[in-house]
Parts: sequence; structure tokens; C-alpha cells
Amino acid sequence: MRMRKKPWAKDMIKKRTDCVISSPEILKGKWHSLGFGTIVVEVGAGKGDYWIGMGEKNPDELWIAVEKNIDAAAMALKKSLACTKENMKFIVDDANQIDLWFEDGEVDRIHLNFSDPWPKKAHTKRRLTYGTFLKRYEKILKKDGCIIMKTDNARLFEYSLVTFSENEWLLKDVSVDFRREVHDEDVITEYENNFMQLGQPIYRAIFQVSGEKKDE
Ligand SMILES: C[S@@+](CC[C@H](N)C(=O)[O-])C[C@H]1O[C@@H](n2cnc3c(N)ncnc32)[C@H](O)[C@@H]1O
Repeated sequence: MRMRKKPWAKDMIKKRTDCVISSPEILKGKWHSLGFGTIVVEVGAGKGDYWIGMGEKNPDELWIAVEKNIDAAAMALKKSLACTKENMKFIVDDANQIDLWFEDGEVDRIHLNFSDPWPKKAHTKRRLTYGTFLKRYEKILKKDGCIIMKTDNARLFEYSLVTFSENEWLLKDVSVDFRREVHDEDVITEYENNFMQLGQPIYRAIFQVSGEKKDE
């Protein structure tokens, strides 16, 4: 995502001590101590529409956004100034370290919304559904925990169906036109809104960590 530099981004991130977790590794294994039974992580939260909307809709769940682009993160934090609740936290960092921040089996659910497709072969490893990312997610998810992925990108969707399958995840649900029906339970992300306006279908799948693998 190309985004204009925000000269105020670093200050905004610094100022939001109420929700930015600057050393998430300190909370590894202790996220439940923040007072929530269910822990949900959104990787690549962008400007935060989904994180804000879902955090508000689900006050009993802890919603943790991860975003590596400081300008996007600052926009999300600015947007959420008036509405951030105790159950909404933000990590401004690269998710390639996600297993340093969460203990094995600590997370209930991960959301991947409109992840960058990185179409060139040379950039495959950057895709958030590349095998090494899946291994990290598998580690931190609890037994039977799941990943919910939404995308407009058919190629990324096809690629991801294969990588999840190769890594022995269970496909629990799949849709090639998720917004064909009304889903009030699921907030529309900024990117999703753009693609819906263009009349493009939204692909969505739910992948579950194989319980047997977690038992190994
Ligand atoms: C295409 S945008 C989608 C934003 C938002 N999820 C939406 O649906 O509107 C993808 C976002 O993922 C972030 N991202 C990509 N790779 C990441 C990584 N390894 N760790 C954290 N954020 C990442 C990018 O910086 C970008 O903001």
C-alpha cells in the first residue's frame, strides 16, 4: 500500500500509550491478564476500519491490530482516538515476529484482510500466507483456532488455498462471493469497500489448525 508520509505519525504512535503495545514480547503468555477470554489478532490492519468496527462490536474479545507501516498505523490510531476501548490494542511492527509476541496456543483467531498480493515470484516470501507465516500462526493459535482470510485477489486466494492445504490446515468454510449475502457480523474493511464499489467479488475462507497437529 503506497501511502503519503504523515509527519505526525511517530508522535501519534508515541502518544497513544492507552492502546499501542510498544514491547509486545513482554506480554507473551500474559495477554489474558488484560481481562479478556478471547484473543483475536488482525495482521495488516491498514488504517484500522476493521479493527475499530470489530473491537466495538465485540467488547468481550481482545482485538489486537498488527500493522508495520507507521503512516497507516498512525491513521488507524488517529481514527480511533475517540472510540478506543480497553479491548483494543495495536502493535506497530512486522508480523514476521508474531511468534515472539504470543505464547504457543495463546491466540483464538487471526484475521488476514486484503493482504498485499505480492504477485512477483521473487516476492512470494512476503505474502502473509507464505509457508513460514503459516508455521508462526500455527504455533500461536490454540488447538482448533482459526484464520479468517478475505481478499479481492483471485490469484492470492488460489495460492493461499494451496499453501494452507500443503501445511495441513483444515478448510472449514469458503466463499467466492462473500458479500452476495448480508453479513452484519463482519465489518467491511477500507479495501473491501473499494472493491465492492467496483463490483468485484470478495473471496473468503476459514482455515483451522488441525487439532491432531497441535497434539503432536
Ligand atoms: C492492502 S493493505 C489492507 C489494509 C486493510 N486490512 C484493509 O483491508 O483495508 C495491507 C496492509 O498490510 C500491511 N502489512 C503487509 N505485510 C505486513 C507484515 N508483514 N506485518 C504487518 N503488516 C503488514 C501493509 O502495510 C498494509 O497496510
